[in-house]
Amino acid sequence: MPVALEPVGKGNRAAVLALELLPEQQGFVASNAESLAEARQDDEAIARAVVAGGRVVGFLMYSAPEDDGEAIIYRFMIDRREQGRGLGRAAVAKVLGEIAKLGHIRRVLICYEPENEAARRLYAGFGFVEQGLDEDGEMIAVLELGG
Ligand SMILES: CC(C)(COP(=O)(O)OP(=O)(O)OC[C@H]1O[C@@H](n2cnc3c(N)ncnc32)[C@H](O)[C@@H]1OP(=O)(O)O)[C@@H](O)C(=O)NCCC(=O)NCCS
Repeated sequence: MPVALEPVGKGNRAAVLALELLPEQQGFVASNAESLAEARQDDEAIARAVVAGGRVVGFLMYSAPEDDGEAIIYRFMIDRREQGRGLGRAAVAKVLGEIAKLGHIRRVLICYEPENEAARRLYAGFGFVEQGLDEDGEMIAVLELGG
């Protein structure tokens, strides 16, 4: 199913806040309420609703500062009821396209808990290479953008 990424605003904020994770996934990513609060304080945070079939099915957040060749995707989730249907993969493809189109980004970083096997497999499928754990114990993986 095709997905679109939309800025989070008045029209879709409630739908983003209503998205849920499975209980065992709750340690993998901050709540969307926390992320949106954080985004309000941070000019560099780019928050996106993942939309499929006219419905908000997920949420992600990244930064891609203009004075840096490195982007970081630091929040990503698909609603528990929508997982396992290819929407996560489609959303990653979309956000990588959006980041590449900015023109100044050469590498994309992504972080996830080391025990998050779904994230590991998903990102490895796009060519992200694991670099090791950061000081908070999160796995960092990097994708070099070609061309
Ligand atoms: C990770 C997540 C975004 C994947 O979304 P999704 O829509 O379920 O993923 P897709 O259906 O597109 O699956 C794409 C690939 O991800 C991997 N994957 C997804 N769910 C998986 C699972 N339960 N176990 C192992 N691998 C899994 C697989 O490689 C899968 O490809 P395959 O079906 O060909 O094997 C989703 O599980 C999620 O929101 N998890 C909780 C939050 C989180 O961990 N976020 C990432 C860290 S910030």
